[in-house]
Amino acid sequence: MNMSVTIAGVELKNPVMEASGTFGSGMEYSEFVDLNRLGAVVTKGVANVPWPGNPTPRIAETYGGMLNAIGLQNPGIDVFAKRDIPFLKKYDTKIVVNVCGKTTEDYIDVVERLGDEPVDLLEINISCPNVKEGGIAFGQDPKAVEAITKAVKAHAKQPVIMKLSPNVTDITVMAKAAEAGGADAISLINTLTGMKIDINRRAFALANKTGGLSGPAIKPVAVRMVYQTAQAVKVPIIGMGGIQNAEDALEFILAGATAVAIGTANFHNPYATVETVDGIRAYMEKYGVDDIRDLIGAVK
Ligand SMILES: Cc1cc2nc3c(=O)[nH]c(=O)nc-3n(C[C@H](O)[C@H](O)[C@H](O)COP(=O)(O)O)c2cc1C
Repeated sequence: MNMSVTIAGVELKNPVMEASGTFGSGMEYSEFVDLNRLGAVVTKGVANVPWPGNPTPRIAETYGGMLNAIGLQNPGIDVFAKRDIPFLKKYDTKIVVNVCGKTTEDYIDVVERLGDEPVDLLEINISCPNVKEGGIAFGQDPKAVEAITKAVKAHAKQPVIMKLSPNVTDITVMAKAAEAGGADAISLINTLTGMKIDINRRAFALANKTGGLSGPAIKPVAVRMVYQTAQAVKVPIIGMGGIQNAEDALEFILAGATAVAIGTANFHNPYATVETVDGIRAYMEKYGVDDIRDLIGAVK
């Protein structure tokens, strides 16, 4: 039985990875999960310099999900390259580094630094505000999506996955812009902007007022966007948003995702990723599917 899939020429032993920002660089989770069993490990977003993140509180529970406004706290590329990459290299899995920035130059800086590192794929988080354009996220303007993709591609040594924001009117416009800019793959969805109010304190639940909604509550939106994107572009798709188990992951694969990522579920079930790998295998055995590639986009 074949469970391996290929993203931009990089072969993953199975289609399951965890989603950026929910797993550190795997260090804490390696006590629970054998990282060798994952198709890839995706790191928390890294910038060219350390980012302190947002004031607290920056997490709030919601029905079927959570809001977060961590603010992409990260130690910066220097510490990351010294600490996280050597740790991940010990494992037989692919390394995907998630990159964030406030300007095009920030992204290029990180991507260039990663050029000489043993990293397999770059995932570019374009849900970050573009400070030179009044703070609108790169991923909310098709011209900016194409431009940032082109700029990153011109400097990247590894294949580039563009991670789309779902906070847009038509996801296919953004997916096509990323493809036009030269993206090797697309991942989606990032979190949906939300808000929660604490009625007892009569205050916003998050110090940042708004936060990103993730978890099972967003899954139907994510499946719909993955399906629409699969109809619109030719590049492979990594699907995510509310995946908790193999059944959820298979929905994304049948909708057109070549691989899947598990985020929020890790917080309440640290075994969610490996259980999903086992569950996909059990599904394939049950239905006599010899090659996972036969399931990708099988629902038209
Ligand atoms: C606490 C937290 C931190 C996150 N940090 C990042 C990040 O650094 N970069 C990024 O591209 N996405 C980040 N995300 C978004 C996730 O990778 C994922 O796209 C989203 O949460 C949807 O998947 P899920 O419902 O399985 O969590 C973060 C999500 C959460 C909950």
